[in-house]
Amino acid sequence: MSTPLATATSSPQPAGKHPAPPCTLVIFGAAGDLTKRLLMPALYNLSSDGLLDDKMKIIGVNHGELETSAWRDQLTESLKSFAADKAGAFHTSKLDDRAWNWVADRLQYVAGEFETDDVFNKLKQTLGDSGNVIFYLAVSSRFFKPIVERLGRAGLLKESDQGFRRVVIEKPFGHDYASAKDLNESILKFAGENQIYRIDHFLGKDTVQSILAVRFANALFEPIFRREYIDHVQITAAETIGVEARGGFYEQTGAFRDMVPNHLFQLLGMVAMEPPNSFDAEAVRDKKAEIFDAIQPLKPNDVVLGQYEKSGTMAGYREEADVAPDSQTETYAAARVFVENWRWAGVPFYLRTGKRMTARRTEISVQLKAVPFLLFRDTPVDTLVPNVLTLRIDPEHGTTFDFNVKVPGPVMQVGAVKSSFKYGDFFDEKPNVGYETLLYDCMLGDETLFQRADSIETSWAAVDGVLHPEGGPLPVHGYASGSAGPKEADELLKADGRAWRPLADEHTQKPDHDDKN
Ligand code: BG6
Repeated sequence: MSTPLATATSSPQPAGKHPAPPCTLVIFGAAGDLTKRLLMPALYNLSSDGLLDDKMKIIGVNHGELETSAWRDQLTESLKSFAADKAGAFHTSKLDDRAWNWVADRLQYVAGEFETDDVFNKLKQTLGDSGNVIFYLAVSSRFFKPIVERLGRAGLLKESDQGFRRVVIEKPFGHDYASAKDLNESILKFAGENQIYRIDHFLGKDTVQSILAVRFANALFEPIFRREYIDHVQITAAETIGVEARGGFYEQTGAFRDMVPNHLFQLLGMVAMEPPNSFDAEAVRDKKAEIFDAIQPLKPNDVVLGQYEKSGTMAGYREEADVAPDSQTETYAAARVFVENWRWAGVPFYLRTGKRMTARRTEISVQLKAVPFLLFRDTPVDTLVPNVLTLRIDPEHGTTFDFNVKVPGPVMQVGAVKSSFKYGDFFDEKPNVGYETLLYDCMLGDETLFQRADSIETSWAAVDGVLHPEGGPLPVHGYASGSAGPKEADELLKADGRAWRPLADEHTQKPDHDDKN
């Protein structure tokens, strides 16, 4: 049964926000996972906040004949199942039919192969003289170039007074420096840089955007974010899930390419960048670009790779579907990174990411230098814990701060304490899949949260030496599923006199939610 059509009604908007300008959103990969799991829930959330214009249209393009009504029904079913999933980012006790019908009412399906002219001719007819158009490439990366080229040749990327033409490109944007440069060059033949919106979904997370607020809206933190006070920074993106149904993709990509030069570098950029003069897109992106440019090229001994092995009932990576039984693909990567600029010279940033680890945790821990111990030398105090500010990104949203206080009593004893803040204790946290802000900003033409060509290239350039090492591929060390990663990663920090922060602590662990691509 097809979804009943509803007349557009606007819902109350969040303070300070207004509906985006009218546009047609063309989604390549209409039947794919990203569309179902993230784009449609995000459109639903935007619709429920009244942030979409009544004249908006959504055209889905995919191979395979399908009636628009059947596409709508499929999307309705998947939206309901994601809403019912308690562990998911979109979980909601009650779907608002009006908000979803608003979206469903605007859906139209166009069948066609992405590498034939036929579908672009059909699109041209369907779009007619539509004004603003966003082409969203929710497809495998091998289609990025051919789709942009065909859009360009069909004249669909030509902007005019009648409206903008924008292209949203998902990751992976290239698989090394040369391929990223080549992809940039190819697409920039058909569209201007200001028309290209390269997504890194980590930047859509409120907790990531808040890093700049924590740093620059607080006199307590801003002055200490520099080499004089900071011993080192740890950036972690640990997951408990394995590669699930993405074995084929993972075999080609591996954890390092999947997470390090994109998601983890973006977090590093937010923590390390200089204050921009404003929140203007170019002001922010210029400051971040300076950081990527200042990253010292990684050397093989800065990186440790690992692969999860069978443990108890948990399968090893090599037993996963579409994975070679002797695969050398890494599911864990740790890296020591230096930002060679005035502020950060000599401060190591330790990055780690992995599948099937002890806990799901995305966070940034900024560890301050130790204070001189001399005041305590004649007291029973043996050690002082270092101050650590942790910005918790997922699944907990908040910050913690580790510091020392006096233990109550007659003797000078020092105890380590932790002060925590959770967003949910202060603000309403609405279901949010992380794509809402990105889609809305793209409609508004705000590129702040999107990656610029130069930053993509400098990020890949910084890691190229470990992707194509002169001495052959880096070793991949085994680690037990459900552990904190290979012991060689512990040794990377031990050699510097440091240790990874534990992955599991007193904070309640929530299960992983689904993967993105
Ligand atoms: C994706 C990666 O980009 O990010 C996945 O391809 C990873 O492998 C995911 O699981 C992590 O994103 P999040 O938002 O769930 O932490």
